[in-house]
Amino acid sequence: MFVRNAWYVAAWETEIGNAPLARTILNEPVVMFRTPDGIAALEDRCCHRALPLSMGKVVGDKIQCGYHGLEFDGSGACVRVPGQSKVPPGAEVRAYPVLQKYGWVWIWTGDPAKADPNHIPDWWWLESPEWKTIPGRDGTPMHLEANYLLVSDNLFDISHLTYVHASSIGADSIVEFAPKTERWEDEKRVKMSREIFDRPAAPFYQKAGQFRGNVDRWIMTTSDLPCYLASDAGSVEVGTGITPGEVGPERGVEMKIMNLPTPETETSTHYFYSHCRHFHIESEEWDEIYRTQFTAVFEEDKAVLEGQQRRMSEFPDAREIDINADAPNIQVRRMVDEMIAAEQAELSGARKSA
Ligand code: FES
Ligand SMILES: [Fe+2]
Repeated sequence: MFVRNAWYVAAWETEIGNAPLARTILNEPVVMFRTPDGIAALEDRCCHRALPLSMGKVVGDKIQCGYHGLEFDGSGACVRVPGQSKVPPGAEVRAYPVLQKYGWVWIWTGDPAKADPNHIPDWWWLESPEWKTIPGRDGTPMHLEANYLLVSDNLFDISHLTYVHASSIGADSIVEFAPKTERWEDEKRVKMSREIFDRPAAPFYQKAGQFRGNVDRWIMTTSDLPCYLASDAGSVEVGTGITPGEVGPERGVEMKIMNLPTPETETSTHYFYSHCRHFHIESEEWDEIYRTQFTAVFEEDKAVLEGQQRRMSEFPDAREIDINADAPNIQVRRMVDEMIAAEQAELSGARKSA
């Protein structure tokens, strides 16, 4: 089960060209295509004889089914049936609310009346000229054979950096400093912060910051539930202050990683991410480092998450234990469960009164 009344990223805007794009979102097959007004997202199943509309083609501002040529506009209405003058009643497919923001196409699979654009988090740095953004995987999602909350777990428990990413962003010192968990029940937000003082810089930060000695380091991840995860990380000269959002080159380096794991099914995810940095923003060399080295870092995570999912699917009732570092993840999962339960209660209340 998923939280339905939420925006999820369905695609990078640049993925949608002249051809229909098919993608399963929260177990629902969706086809997206460009119209003169923007982007449309429809149920990917023709209401005539069920052919996926994504197997057809875009004709003007409509999508034409590839079997018998029925045409649908961006609202999902069938507007043409070849060979007959009338469109039969009920000839329509479901249309999803969509909007474009930060270079992504966001889709709403819940109650359309609740599709408020203000639910999308304010990630201002993605539009700031003082930050440089590099889309992950050249503007395509990573396909992950794992549940989307395993991505959330991964980003909140950064003790894994020491073991999974030892050659780049890992450092033994991370596990010496305990994480702090904060949560905001009304806003549906959880934050994990880990601050590391006076330790050698990890290889990636040393290359970026050219530090003379030890550094103070931080990694903080905030999740606006169900799954908008913004990580802020950096390293500064010892004692100069951990002040996310305000680190200039005289003290160190700071970056953010935006993570949007959209459920495909219960056990697979379209993982959209991008990197923003607040240092060397004009440097093509650093653009390339993010394109290549961070792709390798994400591949390291992919292997771990998919390994977990395999065993979890094989042994769904097996016992798991918790450790201290799981505190933020436990909060995230509890709050997501509560959001789902609240939606279900509302739906069953509505059914009873209908
Ligand atoms: S199945 Fe789509 S037009 Fe017949
Ligand atoms: Fe990782």
